Amino acid sequence: MGINFQNVDFKYAKKASHKQLDNVSLNIDEKDEFIAIVGHTGSGKSTLVQHMNALLFANSGNITIFDTKVVRNKKIKLKPIRKHVGLVFQFPEYQVFETTVLDDIMFGPKNFGKTTDLAKELAIKASQLVGLDEELLTRSPFTLSGGQMRKVAIAGALAIDPDILILDEPTVGLDPKGKIELMELLLAMQNKTHKSIIIISHDMNIVAKYTKRIMVMHSGKLVFDGSKEALFNNEALLKEYNLDLPTAAYLAKELKAMHLIDYDSLPLTKEELTHIILGDSCNE
Ligand SMILES: Nc1ncnc2c1ncn2[C@@H]1O[C@H](COP(=O)(O)OP(=O)(O)OP(=O)(O)O)[C@@H](O)[C@H]1O
Ligand SMILES: [Mg+2]
Repeated sequence: MGINFQNVDFKYAKKASHKQLDNVSLNIDEKDEFIAIVGHTGSGKSTLVQHMNALLFANSGNITIFDTKVVRNKKIKLKPIRKHVGLVFQFPEYQVFETTVLDDIMFGPKNFGKTTDLAKELAIKASQLVGLDEELLTRSPFTLSGGQMRKVAIAGALAIDPDILILDEPTVGLDPKGKIELMELLLAMQNKTHKSIIIISHDMNIVAKYTKRIMVMHSGKLVFDGSKEALFNNEALLKEYNLDLPTAAYLAKELKAMHLIDYDSLPLTKEELTHIILGDSCNE
């Protein structure tokens, strides 16, 4: 099994009246999930994922991560949890700390018992996967740009090779080409290894194109958990939580209202919309 939450409550400050996680129950499979967590700023997305690899502990309710019951104040072994579930932070500068980029990416594999030689090999492979320039490997991570630093943090997580990989807003700070390359890398990795991948994102175009399942957070509550098709076809829910449609779906609705196109199921991506407009000729 992967990650299971049952009625999880959490507050950062004991005396606060508002819960940052409010009765959250969910189940995430250890294989083949591609989940997007969406919701407004401050809705609890980062707080939620920090419970998924035991960086934060629930005040009440149950969290089980790969058969380990995660409980606050109890001496549970966190290392196996972190090997199962890798988390790339929203702010990569909180995650890099070694003297050089290479040392930084090697830290995870070394920490999980790999020899220095193997850790170096894994780190170089991971840095190539994320498209990190080789000359950056000897630099201090603190001299890098935001996008480069994010790639270092992602490479560090990949080098550990967790079963479930969680990335908190991974495309922020990357240029348009870098965004697509990263998402294609994650997709290819999933096709090859069947790892479950969870991303937090505000970018509905990315969410619609790459993920399968969406969780919507609102004021600490998980208010929707289902397929992307179910979410983007649910106008009332989108309105209630003020969520955007992907651009292609928005355009498709406008064109349909103008009787310029027709479709049975709402296109969510540029490719699906193009297919509706051009029909089979777009494949020729
Ligand atoms: N370390 C902290 N101490 C106290 N409150 C916190 C802390 N971190 C987050 N919060 C509060 O918890 C709530 C949820 O924050 P969280 O960072 O999980 O939101 P988010 O959905 O990830 O937002 P964003 O889209 O801006 O990243 C917010 O009200 C925030 O102010
Ligand atoms: Mg956040």
